[in-house]
Amino acid sequence: MTVILGISAFYHDSAAALVVDGDIVAAAQEERFTRKKHDPSFPTLAIDYCLREAGLSPKDIDHVVFYEKPMRKFERLLETYVGYAPSGFKSFAMAMPVWLREKLSQPKAIRRGIGDGLRASLVFTDHHESHAASAFFPSPFEEAAILTLDGVGEWGTTAVGVGRGNKITLTRELQFPHSLGLLYSAFTYYCGFKVNSGEYKLMGLAPYGRPIYRDLITKHLVDLKPDGSLWMDMQYFNYCEGLTMTGPKFHELFGGEPRNPESKIEQRHMDLAASIQSVTEEAMMAMARDVHRETGMRNLVLAGGVALNCVANGRLLREGPFDDIWIQPAAGDAGGALGAALFVWHQLLDKPRVTTGRDHQKGSLLGPRYTTAEVCEWLDDMGVPYHRAADPRELIEQVVDLLVDEKIIGWFQGRMEFGPRALGARSFLGDPRSPRMQATMNLKIKFRESFRPFAPIVLESEASRWFGLEPGQSSPYMLLVAPVRDEHRVPIDEATEITMSSDPDLRNRVNIPRSVIPAVTHVDYSARVQTVDEERNPRLTALLTEFDRRTGCPVLVNTSFNVRGEPIVCSPEDAYRCLLATEMDALVMEDVIVLKKDVSDRVDAAERERHLAQFQLD
Ligand SMILES: [Fe+2]
Repeated sequence: MTVILGISAFYHDSAAALVVDGDIVAAAQEERFTRKKHDPSFPTLAIDYCLREAGLSPKDIDHVVFYEKPMRKFERLLETYVGYAPSGFKSFAMAMPVWLREKLSQPKAIRRGIGDGLRASLVFTDHHESHAASAFFPSPFEEAAILTLDGVGEWGTTAVGVGRGNKITLTRELQFPHSLGLLYSAFTYYCGFKVNSGEYKLMGLAPYGRPIYRDLITKHLVDLKPDGSLWMDMQYFNYCEGLTMTGPKFHELFGGEPRNPESKIEQRHMDLAASIQSVTEEAMMAMARDVHRETGMRNLVLAGGVALNCVANGRLLREGPFDDIWIQPAAGDAGGALGAALFVWHQLLDKPRVTTGRDHQKGSLLGPRYTTAEVCEWLDDMGVPYHRAADPRELIEQVVDLLVDEKIIGWFQGRMEFGPRALGARSFLGDPRSPRMQATMNLKIKFRESFRPFAPIVLESEASRWFGLEPGQSSPYMLLVAPVRDEHRVPIDEATEITMSSDPDLRNRVNIPRSVIPAVTHVDYSARVQTVDEERNPRLTALLTEFDRRTGCPVLVNTSFNVRGEPIVCSPEDAYRCLLATEMDALVMEDVIVLKKDVSDRVDAAERERHLAQFQLD
């Protein structure tokens, strides 16, 4: 037996992944256990969980692999500093002690972090190698072109290459500071969203705008070459020497200072979002065309934070040169832990890789699971009243009763997701047909008002009838955006269209029903589709099938099971706290249903405030 532990840590979204004889046994992000969103600390709890899942202890690990090379990254920081000194002193002075203390002693920190009895060898892979491995090795393809795109690793910001059988080869790399990820993050920052997590909001804002700044961007900020590589004019940016993303020249070019996060979103910001989205899509299309030309591959795999741009991915699939695309669901740095572990198994130990036509990611359901017995035991200990369904059929029927009654369900089933998205294991579910659902879910459970619709889950077998996907095409990891099909759209008369497009309140715009599933339809009719199938998620498939039988609609709203700023829930305790803190109507954990009305007398207002206050608004 060969046990490989992959780790990503110390930057953003720490995670651990355990690969035993090539099988992905477990993977999880540290934030889920520490309850600190994007927790960058050493993933002690995630490692403990992975070992527990496999029934192993530290002494059983053969290889520990860290997802990037600390020395090379240090070299980048040093050179960037030298290149920009003395104006770079502030950021460097702040980063330096941390780097000296922690990053250069990483081997020691890693050994210490894993604990007693560790005898494993310690390996460091390259950041983009880790991303590339996470994209190719679990993919369903025997061979594929590889494209990784993120902010920055050690030096690399984009890598292209090819995967064949059990080996990957990266042929070219684009280097810092020229980075599609950082370019997108600069606009995320400028439009008043949080870098490294608000990119998703910027993408959601784009459909409200027109790409009128496109030419300005490509003329001044970034030179897009025909091969998809890019060169950025650093006069406009501040991330090499400063603590912000954009500089005065950038602000001058786009007509003002960065938007204050709490201030109103103006048409200008929507147009900026549309513009940078358009530039990003164009760059990704050019890169894809180039790597297609170079490799002659029919399939493409993607990873790195930019691969979470599901609008660009959808376009790549529809208009790009590749027959099929697979995207690592944990595309960000958490997935580097998994990629690094698989890299050791296939690339370094030369173990064979078998392709079956299905991916090896197991629905990305790689985290902790709690059995019905464990859930009951916990609820009993707490004295919480609940109903235990006699059989799965009864459970499904009761949940569908609640859903058609426009109730919001906390759905806690099976193993927790690995990666940033809730995929139906730790999800809030609702009826997408309700024109009130978007606003209700936002206000009752997320405590925010949002201009974005929610994402739909749909039975895989019905997906092409509802969304612009080919029959048989799936999107099991919610990484593709596709349009709602014409026949499900609701026509909007011209007068409404005109009044609406000038309404400064985006919530009014998103809440005009554009389809028979308005809660999941964006203003441009797009939807972030997740397809659900029997093999990956049998219970959710049963739920969608019954909901379809009752309503003629095989679609539900799916959003992550958390309040705004909180990591997705992991344990029954997290879920129960969320039930008390929010106005969700029912919590369904395995075979057990807890109704909010049965526990509402237990809500302690002060305790609720304390609970909510610990999560930083995002
Ligand atoms: Fe990365």
